[in-house]
Amino acid sequence: MEARSLLSEFCSNSTNLILQKTRKLSTARIVSSSSSFIQSHNRVSFKTHYHTKLVSQRVEIKRRLQCTNSVEKAEDLNAVVKDSGNGVRHKKLAVFVSGGGSNFRSIHEATVEGRVKGDIVVLVTNKSGCGGAEYARASGIPVILFPKTKETEGLSPTDLVSALRKFEVDFILLAGYLKLIPAELIQAYPRSILNIHPSLLPAFGGKDYYGMKVHKAVIASGARYSGPTIHFVDEHYDTGRILAQKAVPVLANDTAEVLAARVLHEEHQLYVEATAALCEERIIWREDGVPLIRSRENPNVYS
Ligand code: GRF
Repeated sequence: MEARSLLSEFCSNSTNLILQKTRKLSTARIVSSSSSFIQSHNRVSFKTHYHTKLVSQRVEIKRRLQCTNSVEKAEDLNAVVKDSGNGVRHKKLAVFVSGGGSNFRSIHEATVEGRVKGDIVVLVTNKSGCGGAEYARASGIPVILFPKTKETEGLSPTDLVSALRKFEVDFILLAGYLKLIPAELIQAYPRSILNIHPSLLPAFGGKDYYGMKVHKAVIASGARYSGPTIHFVDEHYDTGRILAQKAVPVLANDTAEVLAARVLHEEHQLYVEATAALCEERIIWREDGVPLIRSRENPNVYS
């Protein structure tokens, strides 16, 4: 107990030091950006307003966090606060995984290649040895264990929120994370947590639909189309507002494994596209609460 509090104090002091350095070095300026829309008889038009947003100039920070167990070390990590152009700040992302992490990998590659204007600054997992966590370590991305269980030394929900704040996380991407997201996290990150589900929600969603169970149920139902859904996360399984979907055919002789592979292929593209839109602030909330993605190429087109 004592050792743990000493550790968390150390982490907290280290991170405060980093934040103090950041404040000194950054020449921040205030810009704004958000949107509201005006609804006319037959169409919906959008109007851009500007709100407060921090755009920091390029700041180099040397990070040296040295904690054990729940928050693994992140040494000599060059965190660069960047401007993505057009006054849009580069975003900081946390990805949550429980398994192989192929979606995590495809998003990470897109950030490295600049197709997503953000950086994955931390990986959260309930399975320390999963493929996603191994990939994070190999890529120099810090790993946080969550939640705390009898078997694992994970963080509590409150400590997780504090840790994500210390990493200055803007958005959270659930990518095959199987645990329920606690209310504390949802309240701390409103309209900022996305999940990917391998069926066309609201069909085949909810607590009992995960992994191959989803694809088996789709085939058994006789549905001719399936495909991934990206949705915002609320306090229930798979019920948050739908942001993006891609239809994939279900073929006559499909097995669950074959269908899963076809859907997963589309997941990788769709999640990258949705994350790119999130980071570029191209998600607009319609008056009825439905989120839409504004096209990068044609700002008058929404999907
Ligand atoms: C994906 O099918 C995703 O839709 C679901 O979990 C799976 C994760 O796969 N939520 P991976 O770990 O990204 O390969």
